Amino acid sequence: MNKRIAVLVSGTGSLLDAMIKDGLPIDLVVADRPCRGIDVVTLSAQPAIPAAVLYRASYGKGLAFKRELYTAWLTDFLERFGIDIVVMAGFMTVLSPMIFEPRHYGGRILNSHPSLLPLFKGDRAVRDALASGVQITGTTIHVATPEVDSGPILAQEEVPILDGDTEGTLHERIKQVERVLYPKTIRAFAAHL
Ligand code: GAR
Repeated sequence: MNKRIAVLVSGTGSLLDAMIKDGLPIDLVVADRPCRGIDVVTLSAQPAIPAAVLYRASYGKGLAFKRELYTAWLTDFLERFGIDIVVMAGFMTVLSPMIFEPRHYGGRILNSHPSLLPLFKGDRAVRDALASGVQITGTTIHVATPEVDSGPILAQEEVPILDGDTEGTLHERIKQVERVLYPKTIRAFAAHL
C-alpha cells in the first residue's frame, strides 16, 4: 500500500491498536487531547509511529475553542506529513468544512460510528440505541463529510442487543466488530483511491 495514512484519536485507541496489529501501515497518529491512544498505543507499536497531540484551547462547547483555526492547524499538519488518507478512530472533535474541501481531504477522510447509520447519529449512539428498545444495532464505516455522521457508507455490520446489556457491554461488542471491519475497509478503500 503506497498511500500514507494518519489516524486521529481521542480515547482508548483500541481501534488504532487493532489497525496496528492488523499490520496496516500507519504513518502518523494525531490526538486532540492526552489519551491512552496516543500515550500507550503509538509507543507500543514496533516501530513506534510518529505521534502528536494538537491541543485544543478548551473542550466541550467552550468559547475559547476556535474550530476553524484548529481545523486549519490539523489540515496543515497532515499535509506537511504528506498524508493521503485520514482515519478517524474515536476522534471526538468535530472539524470545520475546510478539511472536507477537495483541495484538502475531501473524500479521503474515513470515520467509524457505533450504530447502523443513519440511525443514532451523535456522540451518544450506543446509549440512544439501548434506550430506544431496538434489538439490533451495529457499526458503520463511512466517508466523512462536513455533516456529522453522514457521508457515503463503505461498510456496516449488525450487532445484536442482548438482555442485560449496559452501554459499556454493548459498546465493547460493537468495538470487537469494528476492530476487524475497520482495518479491512481501510485497506479496500486505499487500494481503490
Ligand atoms: C468506536 O466505537 C468508534 O466507532 C467511536 O468511538 C469508539 C472508539 O473506540 N467513534 C465515535 O463515536 C465517533 N463519533 P477506541 O477509543 O477504543 O478506539
